[in-house]
Amino acid sequence: MTAPAIRHYLQFSDFSADEYAYLFERAALIKRKFKTYDKHHTLSDRTLAMIFEKASTRTRVSFEAGMYQLGGSVVHLTTGDSQLGRSEPIEDTARVISRMVDLVMIRTFEQARIQRFAEHSRVPVINGLTNEYHPCQILADIFTFIEHRGSIQGKTVAWIGDGNNMANTWAQAAALLGFTLRVSTPRGYEVDAGLATLEGASAKGWQNFANPLQACEGADLVTTDVWTSMGYEAENEARKKAFANWCVDAEMMAAARPDALFMHCLPAHRGEEVTAEVIDGPQSVVWDEAENRMHVQKALMEYLLLGRQG
Ligand code: CP
Ligand code: NVA
Repeated sequence: MTAPAIRHYLQFSDFSADEYAYLFERAALIKRKFKTYDKHHTLSDRTLAMIFEKASTRTRVSFEAGMYQLGGSVVHLTTGDSQLGRSEPIEDTARVISRMVDLVMIRTFEQARIQRFAEHSRVPVINGLTNEYHPCQILADIFTFIEHRGSIQGKTVAWIGDGNNMANTWAQAAALLGFTLRVSTPRGYEVDAGLATLEGASAKGWQNFANPLQACEGADLVTTDVWTSMGYEAENEARKKAFANWCVDAEMMAAARPDALFMHCLPAHRGEEVTAEVIDGPQSVVWDEAENRMHVQKALMEYLLLGRQG
């Protein structure tokens, strides 16, 4: 008998709309159980290795706490405290680690690096952020939208700011789950069509707007992210100038629907990509969004290791 093929979660397009529907339902159940201290030990005796080649607060805590809550355990590695920082090939690291654990989460630089890891891994690999994508975050963001407003299908999301890993992932999600994505970035910082377009799709899944205010018009969700992502720090000063008009403020929120939500994956820089008034205001759901990382990732880890439950 041949073993079932390993599934990895390296970008949003790795799952189908049907699988997302299951994951969102499962995450809701897992969250309800967490809130009532109802044990949910579906991954007892399973081990997750987490490899961080960039800094993290939310990703680390949500995966680590989540795995313990599922009855499993966690090993935490960084570039600096492992042989990765001393040039051990990523392929060898993958071969070794995946003989000892059941699941691996990696935060790294190029998408090609996580792909190389996955190609040499015996166990599922999860993308905890690369330069190109941040699928676990969009999973949490859409789950948060559903909690507050119901299905995201047919809705309009405005992405304001950098055409970065978050924007690429939103674009994949829009094409897969059937919502409209309006993107406004400064010139030179556009979404990369090669990364954001779904394989085989005849058209791109987002619309570009030169004016961020116009992108927000009629939006059900306005969302943004830092102007300078990790790994691009050398461009910080140039970016501050280029992005000056891409700060989500009360005027942009007023252009959106009256019941529009505001999201930010965090960490945030108040006064740069968003005003304090907006991120700390009544339309902001950023704390639910951050918490939901844990609930959706518990559903994701369970799904990758056990398949559909219930
Ligand atoms: N949003 C997010 O991934 O946060 P961290 O960088 O703190 O993990
Ligand atoms: N785009 C940001 C997200 C941080 C969670 C970065 O890559 O640094």
